[in-house]
Amino acid sequence: MTATTLTAPAAADTVRVELGDRSYDIAIGPGLIDGAGARIAPLLTHPRVAVIADARVDALHGERLADALVQAGIAVERLTVPSGEAAKTPAVYAEVMERLLGLGIDRSTMLVALGGGVAGDLAGFVAATALRGLPFVQVPTTLLSQVDSAVGGKTGINSRHGKNLIGAFHQPRLVIADTAVLDTLPARELRAGYAEVVKYGAIDRPAFFDWLEAGGGAAILAGDSAARIRAIAESCRAKAAIVAADEREGGARALLNLGHTFGHALEAETGFGDRLLHGEGVAIGMVLALRLSARLGLAPAADAERLARHLAAVGLPTTLAEAGLGPADADRLLGHMAKDKKAEAGRVTFVLARGLGRAHLERGVDPAAVRALLTDDARA
Ligand code: GLY
Repeated sequence: MTATTLTAPAAADTVRVELGDRSYDIAIGPGLIDGAGARIAPLLTHPRVAVIADARVDALHGERLADALVQAGIAVERLTVPSGEAAKTPAVYAEVMERLLGLGIDRSTMLVALGGGVAGDLAGFVAATALRGLPFVQVPTTLLSQVDSAVGGKTGINSRHGKNLIGAFHQPRLVIADTAVLDTLPARELRAGYAEVVKYGAIDRPAFFDWLEAGGGAAILAGDSAARIRAIAESCRAKAAIVAADEREGGARALLNLGHTFGHALEAETGFGDRLLHGEGVAIGMVLALRLSARLGLAPAADAERLARHLAAVGLPTTLAEAGLGPADADRLLGHMAKDKKAEAGRVTFVLARGLGRAHLERGVDPAAVRALLTDDARA
């Protein structure tokens, strides 16, 4: 994949995900929730939607979304789900499904997911499975969901055997990324989402990484609206290109997991909670992936250190020690990686890189090299 020229700053932007007759737009800009009715109404065969919202986000933005829908002549049902990863369980899924079916929905009912990755994944999976498939719209309210989880059609819930093990590919009809709602996001969560923005630069957009490093990243985190729109649009363009080429992750889509093999192992070891947020695990994981690439002679060590410097400069963790882990934890981390749902027969495919912006898939990485990296990194 090639680097692209960055688009000029804009007051709003739209990115198209090209998937034939399932193509859709990602609308990006401040205040878009207020115009959601006008955007969603043309997608409806019957003017009725059910909003499934994260309870915390509902308190902040739910009324505004409902008003916008009603003003467009749409009847609105509102359901809330608990905030946080605890909502992505079979029990909550079953409860939401029963409440939804109790409303007498039919196949023309559009679901609208309002919230971060948890609400989007859960509501998306409800949409994928209710009445064998309902149309749905994503209204992501975290940076992480605006640049990643709301785009590309992965939906799902957790099993007691692991995260996202129950799920379906089900593309939304539209994504509305209201950048103004990021103002109410806790700073730590915004920073964690920013790690996924950096990821796109590190995968195949070196010019984007240059821009983030040269001040774009700091501007996003400081609340600069034009910088946010530009970064979210560029991230969505990067993801849309990969999803259009490989919707069901037969190959290239796995590049989106840069930093995630290590990151998921770190999350598993730290209990999938506040101790280490997903994006923080990805930040450390990307640095480990670039350092492993350097050790294997694939990438310049300077690129790994450049990535680490930028992530640290914006306040993200980059070392195992910052996740509270030491050399003795290396074997347990390797154990988590072997259990990753993307491992095949216990063999992990790593996303490595030939340099910043030049990620590739590497099969058959020697576990001893990974172990040595983890042990050395934890000692540093
Ligand atoms: N978050 C990775 C993917 O959508 O494939």
